[in-house]
Amino acid sequence: MIADLVLYNIKTLYTPHHEPPLRHQELNDILSIDDAYLAIKDGVIIGFGAGDGAQHIDESTTVHDLAGAIVCPGFIDGHSHLVHAGSREDEFALLREGVPYLDILAKGGGIHGTVKKTQEATPEALFKQAYTSLDRMMAHGVTTLEAKSGYGLERATERKQLQVARQLNQQHPVRLISTYMGAHALPKAYTNKRKTFIDQVIRDLDVIKKEDLAEAVDIFCEKNAFTVQEAKTILTAAQRKGFKVKIHADEIVSLGGTALGVKLGATSVDHLMAITNDDIERLADSDTVANILPGTSFHLNRAYARARTMIDKGVAVAVAGDYNPGSCPTENFMLIMQLAANQLKMKPGEVLSAVTLNAAYHLGLSGQTGSIATGKQADLVVLDAPNLAYTLYHFGINHVKDVYIGGQRVVHDRQITRRNP
Ligand code: NIG
Ligand code: FE
Repeated sequence: MIADLVLYNIKTLYTPHHEPPLRHQELNDILSIDDAYLAIKDGVIIGFGAGDGAQHIDESTTVHDLAGAIVCPGFIDGHSHLVHAGSREDEFALLREGVPYLDILAKGGGIHGTVKKTQEATPEALFKQAYTSLDRMMAHGVTTLEAKSGYGLERATERKQLQVARQLNQQHPVRLISTYMGAHALPKAYTNKRKTFIDQVIRDLDVIKKEDLAEAVDIFCEKNAFTVQEAKTILTAAQRKGFKVKIHADEIVSLGGTALGVKLGATSVDHLMAITNDDIERLADSDTVANILPGTSFHLNRAYARARTMIDKGVAVAVAGDYNPGSCPTENFMLIMQLAANQLKMKPGEVLSAVTLNAAYHLGLSGQTGSIATGKQADLVVLDAPNLAYTLYHFGINHVKDVYIGGQRVVHDRQITRRNP
């Protein structure tokens, strides 16, 4: 078949290639093809392999010479708090003095500070801030991003955040998947009315569903946030209304959020820094993905999730960024991958699988993206590096040179070249 676009002179093309969710050795079993080409038609991969792709080329075909760079599937960041107002560098100073993250939250700071600013912000201001962040993420190889609400804690602002995410999805090349997180923290005014708050979150699910503003529901199941029982109430209501569910679980204190997530068939359970051995076994026996967020451990100066044990026990592991103003203020997704290699002790192939096919799997997108395969979207990252391992070893550096989303080159020579595919 003749292609619209052929990428050639690829030093090595890397992709996961087993059926997801990937576990055990499959995570590290990356197909690598040297001296490769990749052919694209209508934004979809129609062929790839060793050679120059001449069989896909006629005078109508555009060709891009990748000059010996390496190519991977586009990175999928399956956990972010993209849309919010302001920043929290004041709190960073407290964290460094040793004040615990959960104490800051309990005193009305932390998430509550961002909630106030997000409530006050115009949709235009939220859009602008998030757009800039999306540009940065895309320049670091992110082609699909999950984005949560959760800085409203009341209907109007939660809707505002999700509407901004929808507008971004229409106007920015990065593909966005929205999650409603109305139970991210308990507003002070509800300290003695927890049930009223939970009832409101559940009531608002109908509005979110009717306006098709999110496909999943998340909750912060944590000390000083929401209990396992409260999480169960909200998430089972969400499932009855047709949402997928996921949980912020075992981030700081292990309450049992992971076991709940597994029981409900959550698409992912996220953070897991304090996960128990029993919960690792439970995860291994399920198709719920362990979504590990090493940037949060780094910024909060806390333990890293035990990724090695999870992989060895057969848990399907993904790695994500958790971009947010409190616990992980960075859009540098390459650094997240480098932390996964350095601190989670994941092998290069495992890191790649964790940020591509397993991330696509828990977002329900593995039929469309997450690997280089015929029939999938041409979401690709071109890296200026001699091999995959090098991109993780040479840390603090963005090795991403070009990015393609749906066959459109949106980053070229480190510059954003196309905004609306
Ligand atoms: O994933 N832990 C809860 N939510 C975010 C942090 C949100 C914030 O501090 O603003 C997280 O770490
Ligand atoms: Fe988070």
